[in-house]
Amino acid sequence: MDEVQAQYEAFPYPERDPADEADRLIEGSPSDPAEIDHYIYGGQRDWSQPFRVLFAGGGTGDGLIMLASKFQAKGHPVEIVYLDLSEASLEIAKARAEARGIDFISFHRDSLLNATDYGAFDYIDCCGVLHHLEDPLVGLRALASALKPDGGLGAMVYAPLGRRGVYALQTAFQTLLSGRPVSEQLKPARAVLEHLNTAHPFLANPNVSDHKVSDAGFVDLLLHSQDKPFQVEELFELADAADMRLVSLIEARLYDPAIYLPSDKDIRQRAAKLSTSQQAALAENLNGNMKTHIFYLAHKANDMKLPSASSLKLVPRLRGVSAAALAKQVAKEGRLKVTLGGMGMTLPVSNASSNLIAQCDGKSLSEIATALRLSMLDFIKAWTPVHNALTGVNLLRYSNGFD
Ligand SMILES: C[S@@+](CC[C@H](N)C(=O)[O-])C[C@H]1O[C@@H](n2cnc3c(N)ncnc32)[C@H](O)[C@@H]1O
Repeated sequence: MDEVQAQYEAFPYPERDPADEADRLIEGSPSDPAEIDHYIYGGQRDWSQPFRVLFAGGGTGDGLIMLASKFQAKGHPVEIVYLDLSEASLEIAKARAEARGIDFISFHRDSLLNATDYGAFDYIDCCGVLHHLEDPLVGLRALASALKPDGGLGAMVYAPLGRRGVYALQTAFQTLLSGRPVSEQLKPARAVLEHLNTAHPFLANPNVSDHKVSDAGFVDLLLHSQDKPFQVEELFELADAADMRLVSLIEARLYDPAIYLPSDKDIRQRAAKLSTSQQAALAENLNGNMKTHIFYLAHKANDMKLPSASSLKLVPRLRGVSAAALAKQVAKEGRLKVTLGGMGMTLPVSNASSNLIAQCDGKSLSEIATALRLSMLDFIKAWTPVHNALTGVNLLRYSNGFD
């Protein structure tokens, strides 16, 4: 058994109790079905058609249970394959599915490198796994070859700048403790942490807390034998080498260097002239605090476009907030304040937009225009800034089948 597998057998991560399924659903990105529709299918997928999903390194099941529960709630047809090297993680994920009466997942203890053995998939989730592979490109290529031509892949990888201090400590613990079983590394590692230089950047890093939550968290953060974070430019290169393209990062606005720049025209023009990947790299360096990158990939040959504000048959969906509540906030303040990755920002959404937002209750854009008695042209003019502001922070997605 290799070291990574041994770690996740001994310490399934994240730590989850199947009994908690009765009380809450853990939601997030990637792999929320409305998000998949938006980023992979231009918001236009017909969800009455069968959908095959692979969870590659499904772990204890957070993304798996979120996606499966949402299909269960809507009754849309789906078949899910779960793969993980860790039997202990698999058992937890399986128990969580059973607790919810979900019976359309097949569980396999296997490597994602064998993904093609399980057939072709419409969507692949690979959250928090690529950075733990011996060769992430070999892993991504294996997943790409199991993905249908019009399918998509949602992933998360660690990013170094927001994890300052983590990698220095991982290296130090490997120097001191490698060769021991991971369960025997915990106690001495905790003792070393107690004695750490108080000026060590890890202790001042507000982004890391897993080591305080559980043993599994401590191990995953500080005693991992294989953890290679990615700067965003490396992600573009990885996707390219696997013959894939990066459809979008989540949240896209964080990767726009303009939000970090003063009004100086020369500086802004210089940033605007950069390529997409260079702009994202500049944004990451100016942000300085990203601890993960969440993103969607498609095959290079798949030229599906992201939803457009003028595609009137699309159905806008707000994430995590009701149309009425968001509309009220915008009407009152004439702007929208959000916090992303610890960074506060004000979105350019005018009071007048509140009428449009209030109508986002399952109607299509053309139905909203009709309800507000707006010509299609006037509607598109008014809706475009709302679309740009809200999609950029992932508050708005388009889907005909999921909220
Ligand atoms: C950090 S956990 C993430 C779990 C889950 N995707 C999530 O987001 O909560 C990483 C998981 O990847 C699994 N893993 C690592 N290498 C793998 C491989 N080659 N094939 C399948 N699973 C793998 C580990 O066993 C572990 O459960």
